[in-house]
Amino acid sequence: MLEIREVTKKYGRKHVLDRINYQISRGEVIGLIGENGAGKSTLLQILATLMSPTSGQVLLHQQPYRKHVKQIRKKIGYVPQDIALWEDLSVKDNMVFFEKLSWVNKTEQQLKRICTDMQLNQWEEKVKNLSGGMKRKLNLAISLIHEPELLLLDEPTVGIDLKSRVEINGYLKGLAKQKGTIIVYTSHDMNEIKELCDRTLIIGDDPFYHDILDR
Ligand SMILES: Nc1ncnc2c1ncn2[C@@H]1O[C@H](COP(=O)(O)OP(=O)(O)O)[C@@H](O)[C@H]1O
Ligand SMILES: [Mg+2]
Repeated sequence: MLEIREVTKKYGRKHVLDRINYQISRGEVIGLIGENGAGKSTLLQILATLMSPTSGQVLLHQQPYRKHVKQIRKKIGYVPQDIALWEDLSVKDNMVFFEKLSWVNKTEQQLKRICTDMQLNQWEEKVKNLSGGMKRKLNLAISLIHEPELLLLDEPTVGIDLKSRVEINGYLKGLAKQKGTIIVYTSHDMNEIKELCDRTLIIGDDPFYHDILDR
């Protein structure tokens, strides 16, 4: 279980997150929505251990982040908004490279399987020749090499084709249900959130998002 307790974040005098309380169980997919600048990425970075809250705390399986950062990091997969891949290397070489950086050992066959499970089949292709959707899938595949228990995705489907989007979302649903992965997902797209997520957490106080959820 992931517990967010009274999490507040200020940048200087600017209050971005105000005492957020939320609990997420194994296997749940949670959608974070809110206007631009509401603080979705900020919350995701806090959940990824990349930033500390100004006050409040986060716990994963009862372990407070503050005390157990190293162990907790190993359980987290984080896919930031900006894609970071080796463009001149193939899909395979990217997977192998990131596997070496991780603390797990996977065979090439296992790495390939992660990709084919989400219909990323261009194993030998250079990343620079892939579509935006396929690059997104590769980014996601890399974040899954160490089999995270908590997967954090910052707008994973922005600007990609519908087919890739449907495939990514289908894959994520299966991952949550089969492996019990906790998935926290940000998006602007309410329809996508409603379709994919078990529950929605609205960030910010824009009444638009609060109203639209009730429709
Ligand atoms: N490192 C930072 N320093 C100062 N202000 C920041 C920083 N990161 C984000 N902000 C501000 O905090 C607010 C929330 O940003 P962000 O979490 O990126 O929102 P979202 O992802 O919902 O668009 C924005 O007003 C943004 O300008
Ligand atoms: Mg953002």
